[in-house]
Formats: sequence, structure tokens, C-alpha cells
Amino acid sequence: MRHVIVPEDLTASEVEAVFAISRDLQEKHDAGRRDALLPGRVLALVFEKPSLRTRVSFQAAMAHLGGTSLFMGADTGFASSRESIADFGRVLSEYVDAIVCRSKAHDTITQLAAVSSVPVINGLSDYCHPCQALADLYTLRQRVGRVAGLTLAFVGDGNNVARSLAVLCGQLGMRFVLAAPAAYQFDAAFRDHLRTLLPDAAVVETEDPVAAVKDAAVVYTDVWASMGQEREQAARLRAFAPYQVNAALMRHCPDALFMHCLPARRGEEVTDEVIDGPQSVVVEEAANRMHVQKGLLAWLLGHR
Ligand code: CP
Ligand code: NVA
Repeated sequence: MRHVIVPEDLTASEVEAVFAISRDLQEKHDAGRRDALLPGRVLALVFEKPSLRTRVSFQAAMAHLGGTSLFMGADTGFASSRESIADFGRVLSEYVDAIVCRSKAHDTITQLAAVSSVPVINGLSDYCHPCQALADLYTLRQRVGRVAGLTLAFVGDGNNVARSLAVLCGQLGMRFVLAAPAAYQFDAAFRDHLRTLLPDAAVVETEDPVAAVKDAAVVYTDVWASMGQEREQAARLRAFAPYQVNAALMRHCPDALFMHCLPARRGEEVTDEVIDGPQSVVVEEAANRMHVQKGLLAWLLGHR
């Protein structure tokens, strides 16, 4: 039984195995077929924060695979004074075959996984968002073929999405460049973790967005204030103003793709012109969340 709490819970070859199942299921889906690999299986989605993509893509994935899913929001009392996370997790995992958890604090998912008798998948925490990074690299693979040696330039906050991409890029041999104000780059603990985990990974941090995108195959951004950071919104708007991904920045990399995990704050981290422009693959990227999560669910629940 395996959990996917952080991207490094999957090795590079396991990522490839998940992608292979995803591709097969996507081809069938595009041809109008559903492969019921998980009949009768039940997926619980325990969410402490809002979601469109993660929630619906997992629920649709489970339906396509012949299983079912339960969405569990605030009224189930998860991570509240109603009962302990351990009691919640021990009981829930008796009823279902896998759990996706979106939590405020990363440690909540770790605690849930520690007691769960079924696989737990991180559907986003304040620390990382592994399912997003998997779908992003899958999308890139489909778009450009071989990704090793290419550069992903993340222009924006060194947040949960950026950390996950840094790890997955390192695992798949891509260069990762983060362009952000110094105060919003990775912290020392994450830098140390990356160096230990992936000593050969090419990870660069800079305050210069133009230098970051110059050789990039992909320019990626995300909101400047993530869920839970609403009170920092004004300060972050000021700090990140020079890091907006707009047409002027994209002129430095006319062949690069533009990616964003969504939801986007149009007019802040990205302009309409870029997110709706010819370099943008954001809708395909969001669509691939479902295909990759199908592959991940099938892989975790026994189709290896
Ligand atoms: N990208 C992403 O995880 O979107 P949601 O917050 O809508 O799930
Ligand atoms: N960094 C964003 C990602 C949303 C999918 C957040 O955590 O709110």
C-alpha cells in the first residue's frame, strides 16, 4: 500500500508507469471508451479548502473507472474539535479504497496517511501539490516529447506548486528556474531537502524574470497569494508587480509554452493576452489532471 503525499513518493520510473497508464486511458477516453479498471471501488475526497479541478477531475476519473466517489467537506468535521484526525482516518479507511485529502496544513495529510489502511493522495496542501505537477509534466511530455534538458521557468511565488514542480523537474531531468523576489524564493529547509533528494538537479533561483524565461521551454506562474494567505494579498501584490507574466515578458521566449495551474487572478500574475494567447496550454493542462489521476488511481490500486 502506497501513499502519494509529496512528489518524491514516486520514483522517476514510477512516474513513467503512471504516465503510461494515463496515456492509454486518455486514448480510450478520446475514442469515447471507458476502461472500468476499478469497479466497485470507492474514493473519498476530504477537502478543507475550495476546489474545482482537483475535486471534479478525481470524481469524474473514478466514475470513468467504474468506481464511485464521496465528496466530504466541512460538515464531516475533519481536522476539527469533533474528533481526532487519527480516529477520523482509521474509520474512514475502513469504508473506502483510497482517500484524496486537500488540507490547510501539510501535517494534517501526513497524520491522516499515518493511520490510513488505504492509499492517501495529497490533493494540495500548503507545502505541495503533487497531482498538479504530475499533470503539468505529462502535458509537457505530450506537447514537446522528451523533457530532459529543457527548462521550466516558474515566475512567481516559491509556493506549493513551485516546490512540487522543482522536485518533479529534477526527477525527470528538467532544469527548474524560479524567478521571485528574494523573500518569496524557496526557504533554506526546502533547498537543503532538494539538494539531498536530487543532488544532480539543476535548480536556479533568481530575482530577474527576463533572465529566467530567456531559454525556457515553459513559462509557468501561479497566484501570488495562495489559499490561506489572503491577508498578505496587498503586500504580495506590491512585491510581485515586476513579475507579471505579460506579453512583454513572453517576447523574450516566443517559442515557450505558457502554463498555470489555475485558478488565475487575471491582471495580477498573468494578463488576459498571455493566458488566452497562442502560447497558453492552460485548459489542456487542467484537462490532463483527470487523465493523470486516472493513471495514478489505477496504479495505486493495483494496475501496475
Ligand atoms: N489547480 C487546482 O488544483 O485547481 P483547484 O484548486 O480548482 O482544484
Ligand atoms: N498555490 C495555489 C494553488 C491552487 C491550485 C494555492 O495553494 O492556493
